[in-house]
Amino acid sequence: MGSSLRNIGLGVVFFAVFYQWYLKEFLFVSCGLGRSMQSIDEFPYTCSRLRHERLEGCEDLWLDDEARVLYAACSGSIARSQWNQGMSRLNVSGRRPGGSELMALNIDSPGSDGLFGLRSIKPTSYDGATGDGTLDLVGFDVEVIDAATLRFWLINQRPPVDVDRRYLDASKVGANATIDVFELKRGGNKMVHVKTVADPAIYSPNGIAAMGKGSFVTSNDHSGKVGLRKQFDLFLGGGNVVYCPSSGACRPATPSALLFPNGLKRGTDGLVYVPSAVGDAIRVMQLQPDGRLKEIEIIKLGMPVDNLAVDANGDIYAAGLPKLLDLVATMDDPFGKDAPSTIWRISKTTTGYKTEKVLEDKDKRVISGVTSARHDVKTGRIFMGGALTPYMMICEPK
Ligand SMILES: *[C@@H]1O[C@H](CO)[C@@H](O)[C@H](O)[C@H]1NC(C)=O
Ligand SMILES: *[C@@H]1O[C@H](CO)[C@@H](O)[C@H](O)[C@H]1NC(C)=O
Repeated sequence: MGSSLRNIGLGVVFFAVFYQWYLKEFLFVSCGLGRSMQSIDEFPYTCSRLRHERLEGCEDLWLDDEARVLYAACSGSIARSQWNQGMSRLNVSGRRPGGSELMALNIDSPGSDGLFGLRSIKPTSYDGATGDGTLDLVGFDVEVIDAATLRFWLINQRPPVDVDRRYLDASKVGANATIDVFELKRGGNKMVHVKTVADPAIYSPNGIAAMGKGSFVTSNDHSGKVGLRKQFDLFLGGGNVVYCPSSGACRPATPSALLFPNGLKRGTDGLVYVPSAVGDAIRVMQLQPDGRLKEIEIIKLGMPVDNLAVDANGDIYAAGLPKLLDLVATMDDPFGKDAPSTIWRISKTTTGYKTEKVLEDKDKRVISGVTSARHDVKTGRIFMGGALTPYMMICEPK
């Protein structure tokens, strides 16, 4: 009797600690239980969807402000629900025939069909995992090299293959993600492969930021590709950020304790901003001469964030995930289910970071499942895409 009472007592204490430390945060911050959200009507924008089969499942975007071209990494919504190591979906045959495409839209020329002259940028001098030349895009970053040249740093979630380039069982060994670097002449339709970075330190890359002089940082969203430990990452963390010099081995730049680090970006201040797709902390980090990242501040938006995006003013736009479980549910039916989104602007001021909600659509009337939002300073428009969303979205200021 006494000992069973003590066990119950211990159980209560254990639960109270678990609730206080993990569950409360998980339920209210990560899952957004009871969160009150705003309707899209409350924001000064007119929003619409851009529908085309080649604009499905566009996880990350980059805006060339000067040349007025928006680039989107589109893989197809069904394909992303099947081939997505970060969400433990490792069905190689679920990839889209032809793979992912890097799409380009001329943002100042909507055209009569409203599709901004969409075209794909074809990879050349690149053969892919099996020799079919396909890409499996996730996050990416771009550097402007000179007036005519862009350099693309693409996370490429290749299927794993053996020495004869036949598929291995990805559900057992995971994907074989590489960083593939391409150069594109502005206005062109072909990008030329420059190099592949394949490094054991990069095992589950999600976001990437070029750091100049050929170096970059990338976030591993989990503790491993597959396996039991990965199942506990939601509570224990286990992701990290890796630094890769222009040549030589990559190495962890943070402890392997981050909670689902996602679409990190380099700010115009040179700092690295690392969001979490489960927690609400955006870590502001500074690259040290030894390749480590030192945390200097934390920005909290009260909800998880997928990708960040820096605009021409240096403001950071964050694709907030107000209802994480709704987003996870879209994995099972990307065309039938949707998930609310919140877009935030983070500006650096003399008194610290200022955060403002720019858009929210609690009813999912137009915007849904946003994983990247790009702001065009010149027109005030916001372009959005989602890893699972079967369309892109655009909001124009009223
Ligand atoms: C993998 O994807 C293929 C093609 O979409 C599908 O037919 C198959 O059922 C999927 N397998 C699993 C285990 O989901
Ligand atoms: C992963 O990709 C790299 C670069 O193409 C290749 O050298 C390596 O053999 C691949 N490994 C697997 C398991 O697919």
